[in-house]
Amino acid sequence: MRRTGWTALPVALLIAGASFAQDPVAYFRQNCVSCHTIGGGRLTGPDLKNVTQRRERAWLVRFITNPKAVINSGDPTALKLKDEARGVVMPIPPGINRELANALLDMIEKESALEESQFKGMTIPTAPFTAQDIERGRALFLGREPLANGGPSCVGCHTTVGLGGLAGGKLGPDLTRVFERLQGRQGLAAWMQAPATPTMRSVFRNQPLQQDEILPLVAYFEDRAKAPAVTPAGPASFNFFLIGLLGSVVVLVLFDIIWKRRLRSVRRRQVMDAAKEVLHGD
Ligand code: HEC
Ligand code: HEC
Repeated sequence: MRRTGWTALPVALLIAGASFAQDPVAYFRQNCVSCHTIGGGRLTGPDLKNVTQRRERAWLVRFITNPKAVINSGDPTALKLKDEARGVVMPIPPGINRELANALLDMIEKESALEESQFKGMTIPTAPFTAQDIERGRALFLGREPLANGGPSCVGCHTTVGLGGLAGGKLGPDLTRVFERLQGRQGLAAWMQAPATPTMRSVFRNQPLQQDEILPLVAYFEDRAKAPAVTPAGPASFNFFLIGLLGSVVVLVLFDIIWKRRLRSVRRRQVMDAAKEVLHGD
């Protein structure tokens, strides 16, 4: 009996998977919540609560089945929406057709009527983050704690103030002030849920950050943004100081070579020793 149970399981899952694709609730969860809430405020895309009341059904179906075409047609409503989304164009939902679009809109209508939709999205706390939140965010940023869905750690491409020296990748921008740039907790959290820029999107589309990773990362960035705007005399500036010092030593050595005869050999050795100390010492 047990054996039949086990063989039946994959079949049952397959059947469940097939109907899953057509179920608007499951489909919405899989393909829309990264950019939309229903009653939870805007993310990358607008809050869809009552969208069926503010627009005509035909327009909505046309838009959902091919957003880019509607925007490119110069449709004023779509252009205004795109402006409000800071230029992000909604991608064509996978496997979408008119029937599925209508089913999704029916579902959105039902969810909008509820006091609290299951799609109201992530709740961002307003209370101050704790030191543990910030520490965990730092661990995630540095890759000391791996990301649950297998995404690469941020430090491979980004840096922030306070990482010690010149640590951090250079492919992406310095994220010290990203908390302000993306307009605080809500904006930053939504952005990380569904990054809309080319590199971030391609890296994290198939291995998204989880909500319980996004919050500590937001905590970490909020904390970084509190650093004084002028680079403090931290480790980074100490490194610049060292680089400057090395530069001076090189110049000194060059002078030494050029004006060899003017320097006594003792003085020359002193310069070389100093150079060695800086090069090999810490
Ligand atoms: C990558 C982000 C993203 C995803 C994923 C996404 N949308 Fe959108 N959506 C947007 C943006 C941005 C807009 C605003 C128009 C624009 O800029 O393209 C929008 C607009 C809309 C609108 C019109 C809203 C209004 O106020 O008129 C509807 C309806 C909509 N989306 C439904 C969906 C549905 C349903 C899904 C899932 C199948 C989905 N979207 C997936 C980003 C997204
Ligand atoms: C493979 C390199 C790479 C990795 C890994 C990476 N990023 Fe990025 N990130 C980029 C690049 C490049 C940009 C600039 C926009 C773009 O092209 O996507 C960027 C942009 C951003 C932005 C927007 C910055 C702004 O000023 O608008 C945020 C926020 C961000 N990344 C957060 C993260 C976080 C958090 C992680 C780790 C979980 C991470 N990134 C990992 C390359 C990366």
